Amino acid sequence: MNGFEFIETTLTGNTAVIELNRPRQLNSLNRKMVSEIITAMEKFDREEDIRAIVLTGRGRSFSAGADIDEMMGDDPISLELLNQFADWDRFSLIKKPIIGAVKGFVLGGGFELALCCDILIAASGTEFSFPEAGLGVMPGAGGTQRLTKLVGRTKALEWLWTGERISAETALKHGVINKIVAPELLMEETMKFANRLATQPPLSLRLIKDSVNKAVDYPLYEGMQYERKNFYLLFASQDQKEGMKAFVEKRKPDYTGK
Ligand code: CAA
Repeated sequence: MNGFEFIETTLTGNTAVIELNRPRQLNSLNRKMVSEIITAMEKFDREEDIRAIVLTGRGRSFSAGADIDEMMGDDPISLELLNQFADWDRFSLIKKPIIGAVKGFVLGGGFELALCCDILIAASGTEFSFPEAGLGVMPGAGGTQRLTKLVGRTKALEWLWTGERISAETALKHGVINKIVAPELLMEETMKFANRLATQPPLSLRLIKDSVNKAVDYPLYEGMQYERKNFYLLFASQDQKEGMKAFVEKRKPDYTGK
């Protein structure tokens, strides 16, 4: 896709790749860049042939966080008038799988962006941190909420209060990331995972994501009622018929996404 200043987008098979492209600033996130990322993501989310979206960063780091130069002159009224985090809210509405391929520094807003992904694959040596408290602020794009839901209150407070660097191994241990790979294999392994998802029926993946997201917010009983409706809904799809027919006929299913 053309016309972006701070990101590059490419298509490989059924996978769209969005690459943060401000490597000299370690892909620190200015507002335009965040707007470009979510705009591209929403476009790919609507395109029928795209089955997964990969988010990665050019250069030595995924992202060193929000652009401090841009942010330092802000005041509460300018932030309110800008509706500073409105673009960030849109990440929660993406229905296709988002796979983050991260390396180097994943800091502050960069860590928050990584936590908007559904699956995270990290190069060995990747360091995660929320350094905001050390700047006299705190995360504002979901960091305190998403991290706490992921690792629990105690670890979240420790990491957010101290701003300590968390290794890829520690992140894996606490369920923040899915996998650690050699740096030179980061994109290859990520695309392999994306290709695996591309063979699955897209509507199943979509409603599984929807149901798992509800599990994070809903009490168990309400979550199970929600899951049930999605389960029923899939029986209206051609892919349910094809998947079960292919099983009975002992052949590979041919999914259309309908
Ligand atoms: N904002 C703006 N510029 C940044 C930046 C950021 N978050 N992070 C790095 N850069 C710039 C540096 O200023 C430097 O630019 P110049 O070459 O023009 O001086 C360039 O990127 C390369 O960085 P360094 O020379 O500092 O590289 P390093 O390897 O020595 O250090 C680093 C890397 C430890 C990540 C260091 O750059 C750093 O500490 N960056 C800031 C990290 C940070 O505090 N992020 C949180 C931001 S707040 C936030 O994200 C709030 C929120 O939730 C919305």
